[in-house]
This record gives sequence, structure tokens and C-alpha cells, in this order.
Amino acid sequence: MTKNWSPEGWRQKPVEQQPNWTNLAELKSVEDRLRSLPPLVFAGEVRSLKSRLADVCNGQAFLLQGGDCAESFAEFHADNIRDTFRVMLQMAVVLTYGAKRPVVKVGRLAGQFAKPRSADTEIIGEEELPSYRGDMVNDMSYDPIARRPDPERQLRVYNQSAITLNLLRAFAQGGYADLQEVQRWNMGFVANSRQGERYRDIAARLTESLDFMSACGMTSETTPQIRETEFFTSHEALLLGYEEALTRVDSTSGSWYDCSAHMLWIGDRTRQLNGAHVEFLKGVKNPIGVKVGPTIRPDELIELIDILSPDNEAGRLTLISRMGADAVQEKLPQLVRRVKEEGRKVVWSCDPMHGNTIKSSNGYKTRPFDQILAEVRGFYSVHHGEGTYPGGVHFEMTGQDVTECLGGAQAITEEGLSDRYHTHCDPRLNASQALELAFLVAEQIARNEDSTETELIANN
Ligand code: PEP
Ligand code: CO
Repeated sequence: MTKNWSPEGWRQKPVEQQPNWTNLAELKSVEDRLRSLPPLVFAGEVRSLKSRLADVCNGQAFLLQGGDCAESFAEFHADNIRDTFRVMLQMAVVLTYGAKRPVVKVGRLAGQFAKPRSADTEIIGEEELPSYRGDMVNDMSYDPIARRPDPERQLRVYNQSAITLNLLRAFAQGGYADLQEVQRWNMGFVANSRQGERYRDIAARLTESLDFMSACGMTSETTPQIRETEFFTSHEALLLGYEEALTRVDSTSGSWYDCSAHMLWIGDRTRQLNGAHVEFLKGVKNPIGVKVGPTIRPDELIELIDILSPDNEAGRLTLISRMGADAVQEKLPQLVRRVKEEGRKVVWSCDPMHGNTIKSSNGYKTRPFDQILAEVRGFYSVHHGEGTYPGGVHFEMTGQDVTECLGGAQAITEEGLSDRYHTHCDPRLNASQALELAFLVAEQIARNEDSTETELIANN
């Protein structure tokens, strides 16, 4: 166990991005109730994820992490969970096929309800109200009562997360994720898109291989790897009172685990070396992510790694780079190089979303799909140049046919954004754009590997 660490120790540190709770007695009572509720995940599952991420760290697997920017109470529906899960499965098929290595699937799901904001308040006309901080804190509508931070919402988040996890586990293990169903995951508007066509090609080849394996006696009845998949959950550990209440000692290892999700990450706005978020997460044994934006310096990054991963254990720490397409080639190489020189074991993942947010001329917060793809390409090219392993991608998407990011094969225009703009926070990729991203990443992996092989041959 980390010496001198306790789940409530963060309370002594400066803490960013917390709501201005007004009713502290009610907040305490909610946290006490949360403390008495069962954990949402089990430490053994968390250890499995860490060992899968250790494979990613060693270049033997690929990390696919994605889901909503912010889950919401309004969009809580079995179909939405299923559709997000299904797109992740489709993306994983494309990547496993292209990268020829296992894909570790981690959803931004079953707990991703709290958001950091650039300002504490929002002013419209004469009125100033607290900013919307996610359904875990207040309601999005611009109204004084709706915007009041309400601690009870954390219990609703806990319940919705438990139900979501239950369904995800059922999908992952109960037959929905059976590879023999690979054709059926291509549904709805995606099936008729160009990406759907490309996917159908891969699925057909996969089915052929499965038929061959079945003739050899390996079917979904005999082989759990065909019938089932592993699916893990993650969210930004932002509301530390909630995270603290769900942090428990694992009886097997005697260590602390944050049992609100398998993996937790620290946002770009809350990664201060001496801050409460770093203090809290350094003491739990879960795999941890840290968003790494353009303002971080190499020295600072090394210090952060030393605090969060003092044992330098592969799988413990994932650095999620989110530089923006224009900055990635300039900012990322020095960080990657320094981490490599210092021998720190980390997974490098690329979030091509948060550095590429713009306002459209008609007032929508959006992201140009071209910029998203450009950042992924830049990320790959940096790692190729530095001889390091680009281990994964982190993205915001939904299984629905929304129009929130510009471009893609559907060529969503500024005028088209208003058609189906539903997000509670940042603009998400829709299912077809998400699949397009998976194809691009698969191509990048293939290209990197081809040229690495060519170099190896040339050097021999
Ligand atoms: C997010 O992932 O939704 C987020 C707010 O990201 P970042 O901390 O990178 O801005
Ligand atoms: Co976001």
C-alpha cells in the first residue's frame, strides 16, 4: 500500500474543477450512502485490464478507448448503450484485422458524467448562473434551479452506472459479442455507408476463417475466445468525493482500488503536480490515464510519471496526448523522446478530439473530421520518428447518427450540424465517422510496420 496515503488525503490539497456545493450536510450524507454501497467493479477485473495494458505498453496489443463525452440521464437507454458497444466491436474488428494484434476495449461509459469547464459561471444577457458540469452535478437547462449543484445526482449516477455495466457485461459475455455475429454488428445507417461496405468485406473474410475453424472443431460453443469478449469501463476521475466513497481495500492484495471503474483518468485541467487529483489517483492501484496537452513541459511530465507510477510498472500509466493537429508534430516529439530516454514504461495513446474543437460560423461547437484524422497521422509519424510504440486511440463517439463533427464520408457541413446535434458537452463522432477513424488507424499501423520492416531489411 502507498505509505502515508489515504483515500481522503486529497482534501488537504488544492482542488480544481469542483462544483460550488451549497448544501454540505447533504453532500456528506450522499457520500456516506455511497460508501455503504457495493463496488461497481471488482479488483480482479482491474488487474486483468492492467495486464492487458502492459501488453499494449510492450507493443503487443492496441488500446481502443472511446464513448460519450458526457453520459446523460436523458439519453439513458438500452439501445444507446448497445449501439455504442456495437461500434466499439466493429472498430475492434477493423483494428484486430489490420494490426494483427489483440485490441483492448475500454469504454468511456458507466461513470463518465462529470465535466471540467473553462469558466465557473455562464452569462447570458443580464443573468449569471453556474456552468453546467455534467449530469452528475446539475442540469444543462439555463435556469437557476436546474443549475444548482445537487449532491443526490451522484446516487443516480451510481445507479445508472451499475445498470449500464450490467448490460455491458451481458453483451460482452452473453452472446452479442460472438464473432459468428460479426456481420450483424453492421446495422442501421452505417450499413449503407462506404465504411459499412468496407466493414462488410472484412466481416466476410472473417466469417470464412471462422467456418474453416469450425470445420476443425473450434466453434463458439467450444472456444470462449470466439463467443465472448472483454470490455472495460473508464471515466475522468473528476468529482473526488464520489471517487473516494467508492475506493475500497481489496481483500486479496490489501491494496486500495477505486471501484467506480476499471480505469480512471486525470484531465488536462486537473493534472497539477501538487493538486488533489494527482494526490488521489497516485494511491489507487487501477490503471491510470493522464491527458497531456500542449502546455506540459518534458520535466513536468517526468515528475508526473514519477508520482503516478513510482514502480514503473507496465500497464499502470497511459499518457493520452491531445495536442491538436497543428501542434502535434511540434510538441509531442520532445515528450516522447524524454520519456523514452528516462526509461519510463507508459502507453502512448492519441486523443485527436480535444485539441481540435472549434466554433462553426453558425455558433456550434464542432470538430473538423479532417483535423481529427490529421492529428492521428501526426501522432503516428512522431512515434515512427522516435522509434516508440503508438499504443492506442481515445475518442468521443456515439453509436447514433448525429451531426456534430464536420466532414467525414457523409460530408457533414456547417449548415448540416443543426440536423441532429444532441451532445451534452463536446461534439462526438457518429458511428460512421468512428468506423472511418478505425480504418485510418489500421492503415497507419500497417504503413508504420511496413516501413519499419523495410528499414530493418535495409539496416541488415
Ligand atoms: C474529456 O476527455 O472529455 C476532456 C475534458 O478532456 P481534456 O481533459 O483532455 O480536455
Ligand atoms: Co470531451
